[in-house]
Amino acid sequence: MKHLLSRLGNNISILGTQWGDEGKGKLVDAISPHFDIICRSAGGANAGHTIYTKGKKFIFHLLPSGLLHKNTIGIIGNGCVISANDFLEEVKDLEDLGLNVKNRIKISFRAHLLFDYHKAIDAELENRKGKNKIGTTCRGIGPCYADKIARMGIRTEELLDKELLKEKLEKNCAFHAQNFNIKLNAEKEFEKIMAIREEIKPFLCDTRFLLRDAIKDNKKILFEGAQAHHLDIDHGTYPFVTSSNVSAGGICTGLGIPPRDISGIIGITKAFTTRVGSGPFPSELENELGEIIREKGGEYGSTTGRPRRCGWFDAIVVKNSVEINGIDSLNLTKLDVLTGLSELKIAVRYFLGDTELFSIPTTRKANANLRIEYETFPGWTENLENVKRFEDLPENAQNYVKAIEKLVACKVSVIGVGMDRENLIFR
Ligand code: GDP
Ligand code: IMO
Ligand code: MG
Repeated sequence: MKHLLSRLGNNISILGTQWGDEGKGKLVDAISPHFDIICRSAGGANAGHTIYTKGKKFIFHLLPSGLLHKNTIGIIGNGCVISANDFLEEVKDLEDLGLNVKNRIKISFRAHLLFDYHKAIDAELENRKGKNKIGTTCRGIGPCYADKIARMGIRTEELLDKELLKEKLEKNCAFHAQNFNIKLNAEKEFEKIMAIREEIKPFLCDTRFLLRDAIKDNKKILFEGAQAHHLDIDHGTYPFVTSSNVSAGGICTGLGIPPRDISGIIGITKAFTTRVGSGPFPSELENELGEIIREKGGEYGSTTGRPRRCGWFDAIVVKNSVEINGIDSLNLTKLDVLTGLSELKIAVRYFLGDTELFSIPTTRKANANLRIEYETFPGWTENLENVKRFEDLPENAQNYVKAIEKLVACKVSVIGVGMDRENLIFR
């Protein structure tokens, strides 16, 4: 592990390369003891990062998962959206488990507050879309970012100005209630936020200065990605995406740091593919095999409990992520889940008619007509959980990893062979 971290430098980012739930939390947790600060730069409580250690399970939503280690500081950057209530609940849950996190978290003054009205609008929009719904986590993420972009959002700093907060809540609720023809209660929202305002205040600061000074002091910083490249608002499978820039570019805008201060990027990629929610998924297995993988991998959402759609590894998907984000190394997770399958396939080329495509097409029609070319690999039957060295993996598993490296043009430096933070092979 040390070799990889020193190769990538002081300030490393962890990014999802597929459609989320690749196992970002597990690697963040495993390498966090080597970092001083762990930051979230985008998204909110739509994320669900699971960590298993010594038989205990932890799920982090808005808080950085690196907080499990008692010397780390967690930063929630300006690019995030924060439900104050949900935030305090998550803090309390961790405190109840005996983790002292209260004094180790800072929230940016510039992060946007997410209110119950955002959740109500999220549900309403999904309802109206009917069979074309996005399948959001219903955490209010899209509507909160929509307020931000429309320049009517409410930032955490506005908790310090009671009158302004009330005025904006009233205006926003009235506007949205009329627009969507739904009932929203500004008074109740105001009462709710006022009841916890004093509790939230100590967490707030200008996190940009904190990070600037930490970087100057040569502190080690880990940028914990949430969601994944193909859920990015610009680069993902729009409109079936989340509402923020969750790929590498969002780290700078979401925290207020210069690009040169990101020294290395690790992409997290499952040894197969999963997706929750709607949208194109070229290598999806809508059959018994897909179900077998779902059950073996425990592929149910950490945030919503929804069954994840499962499919073969898609080299085009991951290669796009590697290229656009400048990924230096990959962590291939859940290789153990593929044990026992007689053969494995990897999507290697897309065609529309005779034309080869190098990324997922955006229109419904093109996706319906997409032809996918696969390469087939022999499987293995050995249990991988206790394997510690790449050379000790079954030959077919080694060949599968090597094929992925070649197809996506990036080195696989870490391999996940089980749920626990110990089940990692560093190459
Ligand atoms: P994240 O959102 O990217 O952090 O991923 P999630 O936590 O939502 O989902 C990944 C799931 O896979 C979690 O339950 C992890 O504990 C589990 N996981 C991660 N890596 C491995 C691995 O190498 N093998 C197995 N069996 N499970 C893993
Ligand atoms: P982590 O960090 C998987 C998906 C939702 C939906 C789309 C939009 O655990 O990998 P949103 O609520 O953000 O408006 O939903 O994005 N989605 C995720 N899928 N993992 C996540 O986070 C996700 N966060 C959002 O399922 O399809
Ligand atoms: Mg997740």
